[in-house]
Amino acid sequence: MRLTKFKDTAAIVGQIGDEIQALVAQKTDAVICIAGGDTPLPVMKRLVDLKRNGSIDFSKVQFLGLDEWVGLGYDTKGSTRQTLYDNLYHPLAIPEAHIHFFQGDNANLQEEIDKTDAFVEQYGIDYMLLGIGMNGHIGFNEPGVGDDLMTHVIDLDTVTTTVMSKYFDDDLPLTQGMTLGFGQILQTKHLVLMATGEKKREIVKQTMASDMTRQIPSTILKKSVNETNFYVDAAAGELVED
Ligand code: PGA
Repeated sequence: MRLTKFKDTAAIVGQIGDEIQALVAQKTDAVICIAGGDTPLPVMKRLVDLKRNGSIDFSKVQFLGLDEWVGLGYDTKGSTRQTLYDNLYHPLAIPEAHIHFFQGDNANLQEEIDKTDAFVEQYGIDYMLLGIGMNGHIGFNEPGVGDDLMTHVIDLDTVTTTVMSKYFDDDLPLTQGMTLGFGQILQTKHLVLMATGEKKREIVKQTMASDMTRQIPSTILKKSVNETNFYVDAAAGELVED
């Protein structure tokens, strides 16, 4: 995993926009996975701009979800589904048949697991943009997680349940998440982990300084044999060298 420091979020967003533009120009039906959370929002905006000015044709691209809070569907503001649909899929006019996203409120979660595993097995993943949790989680792969899992349901770590209130208007009794596992994430042909802002400074440092350990899931990305970049802004990257 190669770390690159950028001046600011806009510079990272420009880089990722260029990478996705180049990918889709070369592979029109690429499979792209963009994480929820606050960090990727400016990238979503950039992709919408690139579509509007005719720079990317998303008509054949397939989008895959990374994670979802168990129990939540589109109607709950703060669900990953609502974030992705409102900020990316709808503005890009992606047909429903090209969206492969967990139904976090399905009473039968195994159905969601099976269909996600089957999709990834059939199509693979060309490009994935990840955020990093304050505890190093990747998607909802929380500290202690296995490094070879496929899609799974997992108990949320206390750091995640503490931080999560920033996404929701009300206190929600959320205890579990559903996520792609590292067995799938590490198959991705081109991975980008993105961190911005001072509050990510410490976990960026730990990720780079530590050997691979399940206690800091972001370090598991060091196992990837495919192109894997860690893009940080000046604030998040203050304690590391690139
Ligand atoms: P954030 O979340 O982008 O909202 O900081 C990152 C994460 O928890 O994966």
